[in-house]
Amino acid sequence: MFPQNMHRAWGPVLLCGLAVLTSLVLGAEESSRGAECADLNNTTWSQYRQRRAELQVRYLLLTRRNQDCAQAFTRASLTETQQQQPSHFNVSRPTKVLVHGYRAIGSRPSWVKQLAGALLRAEDVNVVVVDWVYGASFAYNLVVENYKEVALQISVLINQLQEHGCRLESFHFIGVSLGAHVAGFVGTLFEGKIGRITGLDPAGPMFKGADTYDRLDSSDAQFVDAIHTDSDYFGISIPVGHVDYFLNGGKDQTGCARSRFTSILVYFPVYGYVICDHMRALHVYMSALNGSCPLVGIPCSSYEDFLQGRCLDCDVFQGTCPTIGASPGRGMLVSPVPREQKLFLLTTSAPPFCSRHFLLQMEVSPLDRSAEVEVTLRTENLTVEKRLRLQTDTTVYRAVVSHPLPLCEIDSIHLKNTGARFYRQSEIHVKSVCISEFPAPRGEEPLCVNNIHFRRGAPWSHDFVQVCGAF
Ligand SMILES: *[C@@H]1O[C@H](CO)[C@@H](O)[C@H](O)[C@H]1NC(C)=O
Ligand SMILES: *[C@@H]1O[C@H](CO)[C@@H](O)[C@H](O)[C@H]1NC(C)=O
Ligand SMILES: *[C@@H]1O[C@H](CO)[C@@H](O)[C@H](O)[C@H]1NC(C)=O
Ligand SMILES: *[C@@H]1O[C@H](CO)[C@@H](O)[C@H](O)[C@H]1NC(C)=O
Ligand SMILES: *[C@@H]1O[C@H](CO)[C@@H](O)[C@H](O)[C@H]1NC(C)=O
Repeated sequence: MFPQNMHRAWGPVLLCGLAVLTSLVLGAEESSRGAECADLNNTTWSQYRQRRAELQVRYLLLTRRNQDCAQAFTRASLTETQQQQPSHFNVSRPTKVLVHGYRAIGSRPSWVKQLAGALLRAEDVNVVVVDWVYGASFAYNLVVENYKEVALQISVLINQLQEHGCRLESFHFIGVSLGAHVAGFVGTLFEGKIGRITGLDPAGPMFKGADTYDRLDSSDAQFVDAIHTDSDYFGISIPVGHVDYFLNGGKDQTGCARSRFTSILVYFPVYGYVICDHMRALHVYMSALNGSCPLVGIPCSSYEDFLQGRCLDCDVFQGTCPTIGASPGRGMLVSPVPREQKLFLLTTSAPPFCSRHFLLQMEVSPLDRSAEVEVTLRTENLTVEKRLRLQTDTTVYRAVVSHPLPLCEIDSIHLKNTGARFYRQSEIHVKSVCISEFPAPRGEEPLCVNNIHFRRGAPWSHDFVQVCGAF
């Protein structure tokens, strides 16, 4: 398999690695029956203090053939000449490399099996999990010092796999939090030739002001996408990829309690609570891989503009907006690939998280005083409300409403003049109120009602007669 001149060309160290990799790759037929399954390591504070100088980066391999029993892919096994357990790694297949982030209390990340499972259901790939718990735990500032060394070690592995026939563009790194910047630095070491990097709420503290060399950015891979869910706390607030999805504005997620902590050193009891926003990126990504419903990002320059209905189309992407998750191949959407394109979407609070975006548009006759109107959309089992503040100097109002069901499920619309105290307008004349979905599904007409008069204390409603699947 390896000609002699190749052996001469590479040093004895690499030779060793190649010999092992040969057996790793050729053994793919064998089952892992009887073998002990590997797991990520965990550590305690006292263990960590003793080992601080050593990073001990480890790798675990999961494939469709050993989905429930990870194989260790350690540095030691790369230099041993006798492999007890042949590897399921297949150089002809794409490779997903998962990189965890900061581990506040030295525990192992709990999501690895679920993410690997979702990736393997979507595509027949090699999943390599990077375990760097000894470098990632406890003091965040020390962890930040370690991440480039971890990236360097990963690059040695990638080099060896590459020598063995893996193409750089077949690697897709998925980095969670600080892991996104580890992946970014691996990308830097390979001069952006890696196929794809996905950052799941890339870490913000100590990275936001960093040079692009030091953090994940769009030059790190042929395609870089990132999902932002906690950009005001643990995550980064600036776009770092070719496309950046900001979920619900990227800061506070639905169903996560609001939290304001000033210290990065969080105590264990509140840890799970604090990271709800931060970990939402991962959960949404895993759910998206399952493919039960599309999570479409809409290009816009700011969340405020998005919420005010100023961004409704996918023209930047030639009509098809990017979708979170497993775009096959390297995920490139249009050519040339945009850079740092912000994408916005609203989600629900639980899997599968998908929401539809309705534009609510209302035109009123000029008012003498300000007013507040509550617009309610009802389906058989669901009520969604939106409040509009009407001013005397504006007659057209637009707002984006998040709704889990399609427009055709809307049974009725209700308007109520809720103005009290500061909102004195008594009678309101609505020239038209329309609800439409965007980006517009083909053939779907907006729901509109024209010429409505209603007073304070006298709500107005209208029933729609429509059936789904009419188009
Ligand atoms: C990590 O865990 C593996 C078992 O999964 C164990 O063999 C190894 O010794 C552990 N590493 C350290 C440094 O404790
Ligand atoms: C690692 O976790 C296992 C249980 O999952 C526990 O038994 C063990 O004590 C932990 N080790 C350390 C070093 O925390
Ligand atoms: C490796 O993957 C290729 C491409 O999917 C496939 O044709 C081949 O059979 C696989 N090899 C083994 C040993 O499974
Ligand atoms: C994805 O689908 C699998 C199998 O249908 C399910 O067990 C898992 O909970 C789903 N994960 C998410 C995040 O929806
Ligand atoms: C509304 O809820 C009922 C009872 O849970 C259910 O049977 C029905 O299918 C639901 N309707 C829709 C349109 O989801």
